[in-house]
Amino acid sequence: MNRLFYGDCLTVMGDELRVNSVDLIYLDPPFNSNRAYNAIYKDETGRPLPDQIEAFCDLWTLDEAREREIRHMPILLRDYGIDDDIVGFWQLWMNALRRTDPKMLAYLAYMVQRLVVMRTLLRPTGSIYFHCDPTASHYIKVVMDGIFGRQNFRNEIIWFYPNRQPAKANKFQGMHDVLLVYSAGENPKFNTVEVPAPRAQKDIKKGWGTDRLNGQRRLRIYNQEKVDAAVSQGRLNLESFDGTVDQTQKTGTRPCPDVWDLNFLNPRARERMGYATQKPMALLERVIEASTDEGDIVLDPFCGCATTLEAAHRLRRRWVGIDIAIHAIKRVAAIRLGERCRLNEGADFTVSGIPRTLEGGQDLWDRDPYQFQKWIVEEVDGFVTAKRTADGGIDGRLYFDCPGQPHLQSMVIEAKGGRNVAIAELRALRGVLEREEALMAGLIVMEPLGNRKMLNFQQEMARAGSLDIEGVARHYPRMQLLSVPEILAGKRFDTPTVMGRAQSSQQRLQV
Ligand SMILES: C[S@@+](CC[C@H](N)C(=O)[O-])C[C@H]1O[C@@H](n2cnc3c(N)ncnc32)[C@H](O)[C@@H]1O
Repeated sequence: MNRLFYGDCLTVMGDELRVNSVDLIYLDPPFNSNRAYNAIYKDETGRPLPDQIEAFCDLWTLDEAREREIRHMPILLRDYGIDDDIVGFWQLWMNALRRTDPKMLAYLAYMVQRLVVMRTLLRPTGSIYFHCDPTASHYIKVVMDGIFGRQNFRNEIIWFYPNRQPAKANKFQGMHDVLLVYSAGENPKFNTVEVPAPRAQKDIKKGWGTDRLNGQRRLRIYNQEKVDAAVSQGRLNLESFDGTVDQTQKTGTRPCPDVWDLNFLNPRARERMGYATQKPMALLERVIEASTDEGDIVLDPFCGCATTLEAAHRLRRRWVGIDIAIHAIKRVAAIRLGERCRLNEGADFTVSGIPRTLEGGQDLWDRDPYQFQKWIVEEVDGFVTAKRTADGGIDGRLYFDCPGQPHLQSMVIEAKGGRNVAIAELRALRGVLEREEALMAGLIVMEPLGNRKMLNFQQEMARAGSLDIEGVARHYPRMQLLSVPEILAGKRFDTPTVMGRAQSSQQRLQV
């Protein structure tokens, strides 16, 4: 059965997937993580995230936790059978990067942890495609040489795409991504993919010249029949004629080389999912066709809006997708897989990792309180705070569009997974509301409060007053409370939004 997971691919791959079970891994991890979050959020409200969210979403900070992982790296690498010389080299390299480029070091450490696990999942005939760009491709290649073996390096694919952004003054314009391809063993599966042969141009310049009578350049026709045929077949456009005729129809196809000339998705492309980092289906189909056969298993551990999964489905491969953003997983399951591929959850694929019941939420809290907070904050369309402040801070923020305000406004969110929430915690949240200069604050509790407690909480929340917007008749309580069962039943915080979400959140509130 095809499988979609919500979670960190490191954990999911380690806990849920069997070694030697995957034929192809395609990964397109975020380098600039903020872009990925922004993509999802922008689609919800139509507005980009405020700058401050960058700090929350930046994965590539060399904080204490990451430093610990880096110190542990030599042990991890040896555990996974990486050669001692390579481990020694990496230690020197990592120490140099710590001083010169700590963000890059954090990124590489994060990737190494995941790539060693991916290596174990591949079948001996399997392949892995790492999609990146020149920001880090040179470093990733060194890392992959160590993990997969230099002898298993297959290709560096250049994906060339037309880019209409204005070029920077002092350098050539960037117009390509890089896909690094490695195999698990020496005999990987590989199917030759045919692509149209390059457009052969036949020079017919002899028919091109300047008309002496009126000074205009025009075609001097020597063979009217041939020119008419070229025009009618679309090989010759007299308007933009540059002296050559396209001979494509006569030249057929050729085996795909390592430079792929494929367009980026244009803004009106039907396959667009509103995900800024979405890759074109044609690119994924080429990857999958080349390295798998029908029935094989394709894994995308950073699946985003699941281009890989749809391409695999179309080509009759089985698939596994993982993403850490609940927004992505939900949209993928509903739109990409449900509406477009006509696949049914349960019958054609499973979705794992998203608690669906109070017990599921409690279980997540018991296992990993941070993951619980992340899940429930994202459930209410908020963004989790990755960096904690000294006093524990807030767990997330929900951004909304407030009529009359030039910028997006926010609600701070605190999620309490324990059974006994004290009124003192609500008061503390009120303090946070004033301190953080947010317009609203939302408290999430695991279970509905008893009647008496609820009354106390309501009185306390009422002291924070309501949000009144000029020209809008209704008032929004500045402090609100939701329980996990209410959220699971579809209820959301009552915030003003003007674009798209306003209606849906109102509808959800009536559930
Ligand atoms: C560049 S996007 C992938 C886009 C995808 N190729 C597509 O066509 O839609 C990277 C994705 O990785 C996800 N991600 C980031 N860190 C992750 C992790 N540790 N585990 C799983 N997914 C992660 C992000 O949420 C984002 O959706």
